Amino acid sequence: MEEKIPPILRNLCHKPKNVDGLEARKGKKCLGASVQWITRLITKRNTPDWSYDDVPIPFGTKNLVTRTTHAIGPSRVSQPGRHTIDTLRQVVNFGLGPAKLPHSVLLEIQKDLLNYKGVGISVLEMSHRSSNFAKIINTTENLVQELLAIPDNSKVIFVQGGGSGQFIAVPLNLIGLKTGRCADNVVTGAWSAKGAEEAKKIGTVNIVHPKLGSYTKIPDPNTWNLNPDASYVYYCTNETVHGVEFDFIPDVKGAVLVCDISSNFLSKPVDVSKFGVIFAGAQKNVGSPRVTVVIVRDDLLGFALWECPSVLEYKVQAGNSSLYNTPQCFSIYVMGLVLEWIKNSGGAAATEKVSIVKSQMIYYIIGNSQGFYVYPVEPENRSKMNIPFCIGNAKGEDALGKRFLDKALEHNMLSLKGHRSVGGIRTSLYNAVTFEDIQKLAAFMKNFLQMHQL
Ligand SMILES: Cc1ncc(COP(=O)(O)O)c(C=O)c1O
Repeated sequence: MEEKIPPILRNLCHKPKNVDGLEARKGKKCLGASVQWITRLITKRNTPDWSYDDVPIPFGTKNLVTRTTHAIGPSRVSQPGRHTIDTLRQVVNFGLGPAKLPHSVLLEIQKDLLNYKGVGISVLEMSHRSSNFAKIINTTENLVQELLAIPDNSKVIFVQGGGSGQFIAVPLNLIGLKTGRCADNVVTGAWSAKGAEEAKKIGTVNIVHPKLGSYTKIPDPNTWNLNPDASYVYYCTNETVHGVEFDFIPDVKGAVLVCDISSNFLSKPVDVSKFGVIFAGAQKNVGSPRVTVVIVRDDLLGFALWECPSVLEYKVQAGNSSLYNTPQCFSIYVMGLVLEWIKNSGGAAATEKVSIVKSQMIYYIIGNSQGFYVYPVEPENRSKMNIPFCIGNAKGEDALGKRFLDKALEHNMLSLKGHRSVGGIRTSLYNAVTFEDIQKLAAFMKNFLQMHQL
């Protein structure tokens, strides 16, 4: 394999050590050291016996790396250097959502499950009208506000129905903003396609670009044909199935911009002021299933169509502080813990830097596999959260793909199967997936390549 350092890693390596948001705490090293470590890893290891147990895990990303490394087994906080045999037996969850949760969060949940903060009842048993739950939901909401620096003119609400519920809630709430009942949609993968299909049930949908033959790129925004009479422009920031991610906010010439940010929520900072509505299911980067965060600008409240069910109406939910009906109390509680963990880890600025490095570790293996691993998405549109790939050719060698998944399972790496609609393999690199997890996968991919190169 030809060994060269990906430019993005090289650039990161030249940054000063005290990278924003991961400033060394208590004299410890910071992300700069991690990046140097990864670069060393990439340049140094080039032999068939290269394996994940002979390189140290990176220092400096204390919360994101060491404290949260293991889903099971002893904590390695005190020894972030060499891997033990126990480490090798750990199960790594690369699931697409529901997905891995930080270990410290799971421990906290375990405690609160029997007796929430000494109240004497489980967090699962608590009334949503109780003062204890009021604290939970307020803290969770404040953390969303804080981590995304949400402007005062927007509300954060927690709703049910998942991301799919929002596919219809968005048009029900917003398509009436203009009389034509028309929406502009960008379709770059399976999830934005579903969003457009749902909107068609109640209005006219204009796909702003020619239909794509395959979901492997974002059509150039300069070519988008926006309809000035459309009530809003809708897109998905990260296509979980196809691995296509926007690394920019499209300029929609002042139109109301709506995005489904479900699978890269809080994996980087977002300028919320550019959006009318943002929504995200929690089960990928910020918690467990069935709670969806909706951030909606105040001036967009009150335009819902009469047929919009009250539970889906943003104004109703905002007016009732997300307690119009019984909310998903447990999922809101879990989200609060995960947000706290993200905050303590350096916030969205830190998760972004970590995501860049983690995804580059996998892209590096794919890019240097001489076509053994195939990931057809244009380099500038590649996702840092979900990497779907095939083995052998664009359709994938079925037998090799199966062998890869079987072997991965033997090495305790779970949920690497591609989405049922596209097959192949997919890894998700959400916030709770650590450097060490990725290191293990990257080493496995490299060894598998060396054993099976066609
Ligand atoms: C980007 C995106 N949007 C929406 C959804 C649908 O979410 P839900 O299953 O919560 O309805 C998903 C699910 O994976 C997704 O990845």
